[in-house]
Amino acid sequence: MKKIILTGDRPTGPLHLGHYFGSLRNRVALQHEYDQFVMLADVQALTDNAENPEKVRNNILQVALDYLAVGIDPKQTTIFIQSMIPEIAELTIFYLNLVTLARLERNPTVKDEIKNKGFDNNIPAGFLMYPVSQAADITIFNAHLVPVGHDQLPMIEQTVELARKFNRIYGEVFVEPEALVPEDVGRLVGIDGKAKMSKSLGNAIYLSDSPDELTKKVMSMYTDPNHLKVSDPGQVEGNVVFAYLDIFDQNKAEVAELKAQYQRGGLGDVVLKKRLNVLIQDFLAPIRARRESFAKDPDAVMQILKAGTAHARSVAAQTLCKVKKAMKIDYF
Ligand code: TRP
Repeated sequence: MKKIILTGDRPTGPLHLGHYFGSLRNRVALQHEYDQFVMLADVQALTDNAENPEKVRNNILQVALDYLAVGIDPKQTTIFIQSMIPEIAELTIFYLNLVTLARLERNPTVKDEIKNKGFDNNIPAGFLMYPVSQAADITIFNAHLVPVGHDQLPMIEQTVELARKFNRIYGEVFVEPEALVPEDVGRLVGIDGKAKMSKSLGNAIYLSDSPDELTKKVMSMYTDPNHLKVSDPGQVEGNVVFAYLDIFDQNKAEVAELKAQYQRGGLGDVVLKKRLNVLIQDFLAPIRARRESFAKDPDAVMQILKAGTAHARSVAAQTLCKVKKAMKIDYF
């Protein structure tokens, strides 16, 4: 039997290059060897978007298109919608008894998000406990492996704690999952040079960006603020254009030469940006083309999600039966 993968994304906006290198690429590679489930985490998206349900709804299709565009193949991967699996919500309720408020408040990713979102003392309870819901997402499918970006490691840690505690108290039901984090190319900086590409920081290159949007973003990338004239020596360290060339330019020898020339002085940003733009355009062109062809028939995409959700639900229902039996709440 193939081992199981579960991963997912909050449908709050289209996916970007950070998602691609952080997790999508892994999912495409792993789907042949594993029984893979990919979740559109709309319930989790609502934990900080309760007042924007239409945003979450609209992005279900957008994120599904991104998945299909990068090559997540519905014949090999079960793509499904979280809210259509009420068994996940049931398991979340049971898990909530196995975690303390103090533990929830310690999760470093959640802490960061609380700060960034400016919740102050008005943290929605559903938001604070979403790692518990995420533990239910993962364990209800008996997932062995969770391919995610670095920021998700605290979630997997909490998932393992919950699965272990459940198994200890009620008997062995759950697999303890492991995170699969990509090698370091995974960390793609934003076009502004901030450590992380993110929708909320407005520094992302989307898989669905048009050629013009992409060109504009590449031409506005952060370089070396002290590199004013072409003849000035420039910094490679912290220079976004070079960080991206390291990923997208296969000609490593030439990149090394360009870096040396830049550091000596005499190489302008525009030349480098044009070179990079061609490379990212070539990279995104086939993804964009596939996305456009799927986007012509949204009903067919929704049918893919419907079939995936039906399959996912049958798996989740089986696990929930075992859960209730173990907890001795299988009355009738
Ligand atoms: N928290 C993830 C994110 O913000 C999305 C997610 C929800 C997820 N449930 C999951 C990821 C289960 C992996 C496994 O991107």
